[in-house]
Amino acid sequence: MKVLLIILGVVVVAAIAVVAGCRILANRSTEATVALTAKIPGKIAVVYYSQSKVGNTATVAKWIAKHTGGELVPIETVEAYPDAYGETLKAAKKDMENGGTRAIKSVPPLDGYDVVFIGSPIWYGTYAPPVAEFFKTHSFAGKTVVPFCTHGGGGAGRYFVDVRKACPAATVKEGLTIRGSNQVERRLGTGVTVHHTEDDVVNWLNALFAATAASAATGDALDFQTDTFKTKEGKAVTITAIKHASLRIQYDGLEIQVDPVAKYAPETDYSRFPKADVILVTHEHFDHFDRDTIAALRKDGTEIVANPAVQKMLGFGTALANGESRVLAKGIKLDAVPAYNTTPGHTQFHPKGRDNGYVLTIDGLRIYIAGDTEDIPEMSALKDIDVAFLPCNQPYTMTPEQVAKAARTIKPKVLFPYHYSQTPIKQVADLLADSGIDVRIRNYQ
Ligand SMILES: Cc1cc2nc3c(=O)[nH]c(=O)nc-3n(C[C@H](O)[C@H](O)[C@H](O)COP(=O)(O)O)c2cc1C
Repeated sequence: MKVLLIILGVVVVAAIAVVAGCRILANRSTEATVALTAKIPGKIAVVYYSQSKVGNTATVAKWIAKHTGGELVPIETVEAYPDAYGETLKAAKKDMENGGTRAIKSVPPLDGYDVVFIGSPIWYGTYAPPVAEFFKTHSFAGKTVVPFCTHGGGGAGRYFVDVRKACPAATVKEGLTIRGSNQVERRLGTGVTVHHTEDDVVNWLNALFAATAASAATGDALDFQTDTFKTKEGKAVTITAIKHASLRIQYDGLEIQVDPVAKYAPETDYSRFPKADVILVTHEHFDHFDRDTIAALRKDGTEIVANPAVQKMLGFGTALANGESRVLAKGIKLDAVPAYNTTPGHTQFHPKGRDNGYVLTIDGLRIYIAGDTEDIPEMSALKDIDVAFLPCNQPYTMTPEQVAKAARTIKPKVLFPYHYSQTPIKQVADLLADSGIDVRIRNYQ
């Protein structure tokens, strides 16, 4: 008996040693061997929720914090979910059926942070209820949000779309999906597996912020929000939100400025931007037409296209009237479309036939820049719009309700409400919550 106990003891000790050895090896295998080369601008928070004791999402959050120098901000529930997996499933389902949130311990506001990483385990195809509560109680306006998630084999589901919807006033970067199967493993009693390494996280960060680093190197304006879209051939079209009605479009080395205006508040230093290849002007109002800025952006060969009234005031450039089209550099098709007021008492602001909206077709990607208009019948003729800019302020353009109505007519994939001044613009996102349109709120006050 004594001998048997000794043998058993040796076997147990040996087994513990093997397991410990494996743990160390596992840890070693996830040590990063690549370095963070991208520069992430501003102050960083790494907010995450992790339910399981071992915590896949927590592991990834710690990697991100370690490499970015960001501050770890855990989300903790007031009442923990049950330990048993099946019970957690039931409790989570109940939360999701009851408004989708779960009470969390206070997380301070995000003031002072420029970049907010947000991590959640995937629960029923999206973020967990404590993260939903975090979104509900925090403001992300003007911040860069970087989502990441861990899942048990079903993938990210609706997570990234839902994050975009939850913080429409933020610039949401492309996220990271990591498979972590701790729930399955836990049930089997074999510990944790995160099916990605620290290297994957560093590589993702490098790819994600390389563009920012490159634009910083060329002296570009980092403090503007940008969104990038892909053309049919997979080329990037980057749109920079300058302000109000002013935006910049970059495609294949081409610089396009739309309604560039320096003086309209906040004043913009256009010398920070490269000279323009194309300048589009929708109409003559001071928040759209600024001859000094056009002069500053102009170089040999700049193509300037305006509505006929502005072209006449400028004395140069090409006049394009409603219904006319033109082919710009790189085969970009430009259609001038109507933009006018219809509400009685407002029609003097933008009389029918005078001003332009524009549709740019860039290698199949269709961008509609509405100009100053209301929801006019001609909008129903706009087909296959990928990205739309619709104006929202009173009394000059549309109410949030009109913007929502126009958006439901045009059905763009992505909508940027713009020209919105003091309008509570989140209303547009709320009104379109069930529409499937990705409403992105940028600094177009
Ligand atoms: C309530 C609940 C729902 C889940 N739903 C999904 C799911 O829809 N798809 C999926 O792939 N994994 C699902 N999982 C697995 C977790 O996403 C996965 O194990 C995750 O890595 C856990 O992260 P954590 O360790 O940080 O809590 C679910 C887990 C729980 C507890």
